[in-house]
Amino acid sequence: MEYDIIEQVSELAVSGSPLEEKLEKAVALLADYLAFDGCAVLLLDENGYMRSVAAKCPEALPPYRLGQGVPGLAFTGGALIEVHKEAGDAAWEGIEDSGLEGYRTALAYPLKEKERTCGVLFLRARAKVRLTLLKRQILKLAAMQLLILVKSSEVLNDHHRVYSELLEMQQKLVSSEKLLALGDMAATMAHEIRNPLLSIGGYAARLKRQLPPGSPALGYLEQMGAEIGRIEKIMNGIIRFLKDNAVELKTDDLHCMIDEAMELFADEIAVHCIKVDRRSSGGPLPVLADREQMKIAFDNLIANAIQSMEKGGILTLETSRAGEFAVAKVSDTGGGIDPKYMGYIFNPFFTTKKHGTGLGLPIANSIIMRHKGTIEVRNEGHGAAFIIKLPVAGAAAPNSSRHETGEAV
Ligand SMILES: Nc1ncnc2c1ncn2[C@@H]1O[C@H](COP(=O)(O)OP(=O)(O)OP(=O)(O)O)[C@@H](O)[C@H]1O
Ligand SMILES: [Mg+2]
Repeated sequence: MEYDIIEQVSELAVSGSPLEEKLEKAVALLADYLAFDGCAVLLLDENGYMRSVAAKCPEALPPYRLGQGVPGLAFTGGALIEVHKEAGDAAWEGIEDSGLEGYRTALAYPLKEKERTCGVLFLRARAKVRLTLLKRQILKLAAMQLLILVKSSEVLNDHHRVYSELLEMQQKLVSSEKLLALGDMAATMAHEIRNPLLSIGGYAARLKRQLPPGSPALGYLEQMGAEIGRIEKIMNGIIRFLKDNAVELKTDDLHCMIDEAMELFADEIAVHCIKVDRRSSGGPLPVLADREQMKIAFDNLIANAIQSMEKGGILTLETSRAGEFAVAKVSDTGGGIDPKYMGYIFNPFFTTKKHGTGLGLPIANSIIMRHKGTIEVRNEGHGAAFIIKLPVAGAAAPNSSRHETGEAV
């Protein structure tokens, strides 16, 4: 019969009730069985206090810190503490515990797994209660059962946390797969749209040639040609950005790539009265690069710089070597990038221009990443500065990444 209590607590443990409810019922059973007025399970919280998670107590318990009162001492000592209010009980006299007012017996049993204590089972009685040896053993067994209950709920919580993290990761994976699929679809669509578009452009040009001078339809056809050109630019940009162009890396001179990219802009530079300031480290700067691809990257940076200085300015192209990297800096005096846009300029389709596609920088970035290089942007002086670093030919390949050192939003 004495062991009935263990059976009852065990039945509680395997019941489907929430942990708090199980603990509440278990402490009530124990208090009754051991003839104590109050029984509580105290666990250590993150602030270093022992908080009651389940209690059958006539009065609320004071907040105990480690080493304070009967529960705090049992926790730090890791052993059962039993005190009785009676003349000559030095332990009772020596313990400061406001929770013992009106009580004559107090008992705290640490809930301990191996050497780690995680809580205390605390019992108080107004009368003098002496536990028999059997009851002490039963108390020990009950404390172990309570510990298993607490621990199993921790495991369950961990399991829930890990499960929800896993679910979140899975959702991210699914959406990144969807994005990839979307990318493939966009690239295919861009291809499919580009071909008939070129035909329409061709027919429009033929029609224009056949119309007599002064025909009102000429204006419409010109407009059509411009719009077709715009769509074509967007389609080409999408294809360039999405196509997983494998780079053919060869040892090449960084200066030559910049020179070739600059050739395309000679007219525009003259039209907008832009002064070009070329600063180079002198001598070839050998990098491992795909010249055609790198020219596209520089084209985009130079085009942006020129577009920012329509009323003139200085375009500075600077090259140098920094350890294992060749550095190219493209800067302008066009007023710089609005700090609130700094975090977005590498996003596909982000543009502040009326006829921009917003694909120039994403394309430049993806090309540089494929070269295991980096691209940084910041506002400097009177404009924007883009700094590209590429591994010097022959040096060990570092990790690729993009840094935005400007004020990101
Ligand atoms: N040198 C620069 N000075 C000021 N703003 C810039 C500069 N370079 C880029 N930006 C900003 O970054 C945005 C994105 O540039 P990106 O080259 O990707 O697209 P875009 O220039 O707008 O369009 P596209 O390249 O198709 O002509 C630009 O719209 C502009 O707001
Ligand atoms: Mg651009």
